[in-house]
Amino acid sequence: MSYYPREVIDDIRSGNDIVDVVGQYVKLKRSGSSYVGLCPFHNEKTPSFHVNQDGQYFHCFGCGVGGDVIGFMMKYGNYSYPDALKVLAERINYILPEGEMSADIVKKRELKQNLYEIHKIAARFYYEQLMSDNGKIAAEYLDKREVKLGIRRKFGLGYSPVAKGALYENLKSKGFSEDTILKSGLVYKRDNGAYYDKFFNRLMFPIIDVYGNIIGFGGRVLGDGQPKYLNSPETEIFNKSRNLYNLNNAKASKIREFILVEGYMDAIAIYQAGFHNVVASLGTAFNENHAKVLKSYADSVILLFDSDEAGVKAVLRAIPVLENAGLKIKVLQVHDAKDPDEFIKRFGAAEFGELLKTAKNHIIFQAEQLQKKYDLEILDDKIAFSKDIAKLLSNIESSIETDAYLKEVSKMTDIDLPAIQDEIAKLNNGVAVVRMASKGSKINKNGIDEARSGLISILVSNKVYYDLLSKHIKPEEFVDDFYVKTVSYIYSLYSQDKPVNKESIIGYFETVEEQSRITKLFVRQVGYIDDEIEKAMNDLVRKVKEAYYDKMISDDYSNPELPKLMEMKRNVSKLYISLSDG
Ligand code: UTP
Ligand code: MN
Repeated sequence: MSYYPREVIDDIRSGNDIVDVVGQYVKLKRSGSSYVGLCPFHNEKTPSFHVNQDGQYFHCFGCGVGGDVIGFMMKYGNYSYPDALKVLAERINYILPEGEMSADIVKKRELKQNLYEIHKIAARFYYEQLMSDNGKIAAEYLDKREVKLGIRRKFGLGYSPVAKGALYENLKSKGFSEDTILKSGLVYKRDNGAYYDKFFNRLMFPIIDVYGNIIGFGGRVLGDGQPKYLNSPETEIFNKSRNLYNLNNAKASKIREFILVEGYMDAIAIYQAGFHNVVASLGTAFNENHAKVLKSYADSVILLFDSDEAGVKAVLRAIPVLENAGLKIKVLQVHDAKDPDEFIKRFGAAEFGELLKTAKNHIIFQAEQLQKKYDLEILDDKIAFSKDIAKLLSNIESSIETDAYLKEVSKMTDIDLPAIQDEIAKLNNGVAVVRMASKGSKINKNGIDEARSGLISILVSNKVYYDLLSKHIKPEEFVDDFYVKTVSYIYSLYSQDKPVNKESIIGYFETVEEQSRITKLFVRQVGYIDDEIEKAMNDLVRKVKEAYYDKMISDDYSNPELPKLMEMKRNVSKLYISLSDG
């Protein structure tokens, strides 16, 4: 929660008209009821960045970012919520209440600055070690791996020496307190009170954020040993799921297609081969935050993971995550090498460039992987496979695309085209009647998010629907935290007779991610005409409730309540809410 009372936040928001504020940074042109301009958060040539004055929100149809005026400041200035508030308060000469909390903010900001400084010093220290006699072992290792001198400098590679408190002593001599040094994660304290460097005798890879700050390190063992890579822990400045290795360079390449690889060394090898638009995840599974970060700088991603089984699994896991973020996805596998780094070493940069051109559409890749599970000579397998394919293709939004893939997949696998078409039709009828305003949104698995969004839009549109719906569906039945939070808030506003509108709901959220999500929900939702709303509402309620029971059931199969839950799930189909009951 924020540090200031609601009323203060509301004052600041209403004192800062969103068109004025955004207009200071983005050239806006009036267009109908809204203002449009080039999105400051991604590269574009035709404006898709909209600012709505009535609703006091902004939304970019290109990259999906959105929110209110506070959200804009957070995103634009990379501020925390309270800091964005401060900037906006200053802008209108509004005196914020001073308190312990603001002192906290100041302290936190100071800590962050110190941590950035510590990381800079550490990187320099490791780099100097690599260049000195001490670092011979690491330099020779880099020779062996054919990392050129210029690249070592560009990436700030280094060597952490064997002496176990060397970095600690260095930082101490520069005047940092023990407490701050510990908070950097680069040093830890033993039970006996002694300070040790986290990294020693390792090849060091500084991790740099998009603003050019060093925020952490990865350290590789020289030779054998465990773990092969040791990474900085998460700290006040290092969030592993919001950062990617080499993102700063990939962003600077201005190429809107990124190559996503698994390893630090893969990223460096690909960069050295002349492809700067490469990023690697930082030893954590690729997740939705990574995808969102990528979406800010790229439209399309080539997944290039190791060619082993684990690599294929990781690719299959990453595809839906990237898809939900609205990114185009291609998949590439190296041949005759275990990873991209080895491929380049063996076949050279030019050959790697050729390889990149052979990246496959992810649907085709997924179809190939599915096919491997089955023996298509066996009838049952063939049926199961057709169903899997239908499920895969039913997630595609455009029917033209679905058709194209359908043909390709049926050619590839020799399964009956009409059979898959039938399956797809069955699956699609199950999807609720929600129609989306924009093509850009991805219908996710079975349209459940769309169903939740649809219900929220209906709820916000008129109190009548709240009176009816709140009797039949509880916030927690929306399962996903974001929706649960949204619905709880809407219910609480209605129950206290407070105004319910887009503005009040967007303003409730305090992160750019959540604000973008809720704004997108509102912007993309189409209204219903009167005589379809009752049916739509019932379809949506059923879908949302069924997903809730499915979740309850699959969470714990040993739950003694299981038969009851299954009964309740069956009863959902009998539920019918009539508007005339209201
Ligand atoms: P790899 O072992 O494939 O990395 O792990 P790599 O960069 O190709 O390694 P070498 O140097 O060529 O042998 C992929 C990534 O997984 C993370 C690291 O981010 C690594 O780059 N990882 C791997 C760890 O965090 N810890 C480990 O112990 C191993
Ligand atoms: Mn490797």
